[in-house]
Amino acid sequence: MIVIRGLYKKFGKLKVLEGLDLDVQSGETLVVLGRSGIGKSVLLKQIIGIMKPEAGTIDINGVRITDLLGPDLYKVVQDMGMLFQGAALFDSMNVEENTAFYLNQHGNRQTGKQYTKAEIADLVSHALEMVGLEGTQKKMPSDLSGGMRKRAGLARLIVYRPSILLYDEPTTGLDPMTAMQINELIVKTQNELKGTSIVVTHDILSALYVGTRLALIADGKIVHIADPDTFMKIDDPTIAFLRKTISQDPRTLKAETNHT
Ligand SMILES: Nc1ncnc2c1ncn2[C@@H]1O[C@H](COP(=O)(O)OP(=O)(O)OP(=O)(O)O)[C@@H](O)[C@H]1O
Ligand SMILES: [Mg+2]
Repeated sequence: MIVIRGLYKKFGKLKVLEGLDLDVQSGETLVVLGRSGIGKSVLLKQIIGIMKPEAGTIDINGVRITDLLGPDLYKVVQDMGMLFQGAALFDSMNVEENTAFYLNQHGNRQTGKQYTKAEIADLVSHALEMVGLEGTQKKMPSDLSGGMRKRAGLARLIVYRPSILLYDEPTTGLDPMTAMQINELIVKTQNELKGTSIVVTHDILSALYVGTRLALIADGKIVHIADPDTFMKIDDPTIAFLRKTISQDPRTLKAETNHT
């Protein structure tokens, strides 16, 4: 479980998080919605410990990571993974090396030993299969399409089976079909790893597909959080806008056509 209390973060004069509170239950997929520049990526970076708040606390399964630095922080973070906005593959490494990155770094977290080359090749191959990128081991990130890069980023994340998964805009910039494949992968990963996921997105259809709860961030705080049905009925201008987006999204139109 993730418990966040009174989180503050500013950059110079720009106040981004202003006393944000949030509880994420173990096993849920929480979707965080909010306007561009509101601080969604900043929130994820605080949760995974690569950015520190000015004030406030983040407890991950009872461990206060906001108090930790260096090896102590690293130990907690080993059990977490993040799909960065833009997938953020290492350009100089091929798909296999990218996917194996955390396996090489962390080793086998159950035995504490380094993986052998054969074990790594096996795990990488399984992860690439899971995201539909089998056989791309030797390709460089520059040879991949945007959707393939996202899926490779996802393979790198799921390969070491973290129990907390953070996704920053996993479907942004993808065509609707590829976006749906990514949504399906997020759900599949969640079912397989039985982890806790936080998904930041602008894509309301994606939010409704993957989310067990939806949250809206505004003015540096979580202003609404609820199950999808309740959330979509909330009287709020941003949520009203999301409702309108759904009624205009070609994917919803298609779903409606298929049903009639
Ligand atoms: N390292 C940094 N230094 C200075 N300002 C930053 C830094 N990181 C983020 N910001 C600023 O903090 C604000 C929130 O950024 P953040 O990336 O969290 O937005 P976001 O909600 O993820 O937006 P988007 O939906 O466009 O990705 C922005 O105004 C951004 O410019
Ligand atoms: Mg962002």
